[in-house]
Parts: sequence; structure tokens; C-alpha cells
Amino acid sequence: MAQNDTQPYRAVLTGASGGIGAAIAERLAPRCALLILVGRNRNALEALAGGLQGCQVRIVSGDLCEQATLDAIAACARDSGGINLLVNNAGISSFHAFETQPAAAIRAQIETNLVAPMLLTRTLLPLLHAVPAAQVVNIGSVFGSLGYPGFAAYGAAKAGLAGFSQSLRRELADTAVAVRHFSPRATRTAINSAAVNRMNTALRTNEDTPEAVADAFMAFLAGTAAERTLGGSERFFVLVNKLLPGIPENAIRKQLGQIRKYLPR
Ligand SMILES: NC(=O)c1ccc[n+]([C@@H]2O[C@H](COP(=O)([O-])OP(=O)(O)OC[C@H]3O[C@@H](n4cnc5c(N)ncnc54)[C@H](OP(=O)(O)O)[C@@H]3O)[C@@H](O)[C@H]2O)c1
Repeated sequence: MAQNDTQPYRAVLTGASGGIGAAIAERLAPRCALLILVGRNRNALEALAGGLQGCQVRIVSGDLCEQATLDAIAACARDSGGINLLVNNAGISSFHAFETQPAAAIRAQIETNLVAPMLLTRTLLPLLHAVPAAQVVNIGSVFGSLGYPGFAAYGAAKAGLAGFSQSLRRELADTAVAVRHFSPRATRTAINSAAVNRMNTALRTNEDTPEAVADAFMAFLAGTAAERTLGGSERFFVLVNKLLPGIPENAIRKQLGQIRKYLPR
């Protein structure tokens, strides 16, 4: 059952200090009774909180890859009277040739983008089950459904997150906790290195602003769809990739020479 959009949200938002996270926080705050902002950079979270209106704002700063941070979020949520929304938005990306990518960078992307949201969801599920209707929204990526050169570890993590979202949604289908998945396409934020930005410009990749992504996120949140991928052409490519994967395979192969010009190795 989807949460009634007329109820105020009592939300945990990870990655709140980032480009997409901050834009979501600004739009979510007026719809919230409680908004718990999570990230490692406390100063950035405090600056964001200072500009938010209309709800009680709490901050938990810490590394989501550490259980202590997950426990601190749960304690904050419990002490604040409970939650009905978890947005797993925090993420990292490291654009690099896979063969020479340091193991630590591969591990960090899997830990941050996949293991941390899974464990945070598990940690908060008892609180989410305690309210009449709740939802978990995982922020994925087009690259989780459409493998792309230079993003092998990132794409693996985001594909895993999509699988996690679908499995858990089906596991909880007879409960009041909805599990949903929202996938942006390329967006102008700090997650993308200068090399990625140069490549996107050269390839004329469609790019969204974080504000546009946050607007689309709010519309998704108010609806009942289980999944949403942003961008008409990206949705089309994701579908073709499922049905006729040879077509994107050839199209991306044709881009490979260009991609290699920007790919750190
Ligand atoms: N921008 C894009 O092109 C794009 C496209 C598709 C999907 N996405 C997804 O959208 C989400 C938001 O990304 P963004 O573009 O807004 O990136 P961003 O501006 O770099 O923000 C990332 C956020 O995640 C937080 N974070 C990263 N690692 C963390 C950790 N270990 N513990 C706690 N917080 C952590 C960062 O905060 P601190 O550094 O303060 O910890 C920051 O608030 C990500 O899941 C990303 O994969 C982005």
C-alpha cells in the first residue's frame, strides 16, 4: 500500500548535503513533520538545515558505511517519534577503466551505493513497520539498467540496488511498507568528475539539473509507481537494452573511442 500523500512525511534523507539531496530536502521539508538529514559533512548539513522551513529538522553526520552511523540514525528517528519515509540517496561514483581501478574504489562504490542502503533499510524497517503506511525510496541510476564503459563498479552497485528494491518490494507486498526505486539520468552535481563532465559535453549526453530531478522525485513520491527512470530517451534505451541488447551494445561500442579519450586509466 502506498503512503497517503496527504499525511506529513517523517523522513530520513541520506546524501542530503549533495546536489540532488539538497534539492530534494528543500522540496520535502514543507511536506514533512520531521526531516532527518544524513551525510558526512556536518557543516554542509547545518547550512542546509538553516534554510529549511516548515518542519522539525534533525542532523545525523557520519559515514553510512559504518554501523554506528546507521544506529545513530535509528536512535534519532526513534527519539523524534518515528518515521514513515526513508530516502536512500547518498552515493559515490568513480569513473575509471575497470582493469586498473583500485580495489578500494571498487569496494567503496559497492559499500556506499549498495550495502549501506540495504543495511540502513534493514535497521529502520522496525520503525517503518510501526506506522500505518510507510515507504522506502532507493535512488538508483540509469547506469543500473544500462551498463556503460567506465562505470563497471558503479553500474554493478546500482544494478544491485535495483534488484534489492524489487526483491524487498515483493517480500513486503503484504505489509504497509512500499519499496520504490527512482533512477535519475546524468545530472550536474559534484558526483561527476571533470572528466565525466567533459565526456558528457563531447557526447552531447542529456543532463538534468538537480532541481529538475528533485521536482520529478516529488511527483514520483506523491504517486504509486514502483519504479521511475528519468528521461524519455533513457527510458527507451533501458527498454531496448532489456529486449534487444545488441542495439545499445553496438551504439555504445561506436562511442568507445570518444569515451576512452576521457577515461582515467
Ligand atoms: N549526478 C548524477 O549524474 C546522478 C545520476 C544518476 C544517479 N545519481 C544518484 O543520485 C544520488 C545523489 O547523487 P548526487 O548527484 O547528488 O551526488 P553528490 O552531489 O556527490 O551527493 C552525494 C551525497 O552522498 C553523501 N555521501 C556519499 N558517501 C557517503 C557516505 N559514505 N556516508 C554518508 N554520506 C555519503 C554525500 O555527503 P558527504 O560527502 O557529506 O558525506 C553527498 O551528500 C546518488 O545515489 C547518485 O548515484 C546521480
